[in-house]
Amino acid sequence: MTDLRDANAIVSFLRELRSVRRFRPGAIPRRVVEDILEVARWSGSAMNLQPWEFVVVWDRRTLEDLFRLEGYAGHRAGGAVGIVLVMAWERIEQETFDEGRVSERISLAAAAHGVGSSVGWFTKGGRDTAKKTLSVPPERLVRTAISLGYPEETPPPGRPTLQQGRNHSPAWSTRIGTTKARPTAEVRSRPL
Ligand SMILES: Cc1cc2nc3c(=O)[nH]c(=O)nc-3n(C[C@H](O)[C@H](O)[C@H](O)COP(=O)(O)O)c2cc1C
Repeated sequence: MTDLRDANAIVSFLRELRSVRRFRPGAIPRRVVEDILEVARWSGSAMNLQPWEFVVVWDRRTLEDLFRLEGYAGHRAGGAVGIVLVMAWERIEQETFDEGRVSERISLAAAAHGVGSSVGWFTKGGRDTAKKTLSVPPERLVRTAISLGYPEETPPPGRPTLQQGRNHSPAWSTRIGTTKARPTAEVRSRPL
């Protein structure tokens, strides 16, 4: 069983994962990237289909070309490495979840090595051009790129605390969460 001190350290590590969008110059050792991919490979997926491939982009010019494409990834060009997720795109609902899981694991494994990361999405025509650039067949999905590099910034703190809902459901359940969308009427601020 995990020692409580270990648990505290691991929970802090998980809680502290933040997006890093500005990077110091400096290469990431190949064995670190291999370690990150090994964690990605072990990520769970619906029906254990592992519907992904990872394209690791080391080349600076290709990174710059990719991060100029339509989407929200432009500020990532400063990363040392990009990992582009190529999804099989045969089971859309399941794979959307799988894509999120694997991308979070990549970021966590990177953070374990002191490497910062952030997700950038390609949108619209940016997805097609990214596929062409990386020789990915057109039926696949290329939406998510994760840039990796040694952090040059400490992201500002800030996150709403969890709020616990009451009186909305039988005693056997608790609704808890945060949302920037309009909260449901039952959500009240209460201690756990
Ligand atoms: C599905 C998804 C897509 C995202 N796409 C982008 C993106 O295209 N560009 C970007 O800068 N950040 C992107 N992010 C990062 C979020 O903006 C970020 O996680 C959020 O602002 C919280 O900040 P934090 O990660 O530092 O805690 C994405 C996050 C998720 C979960």
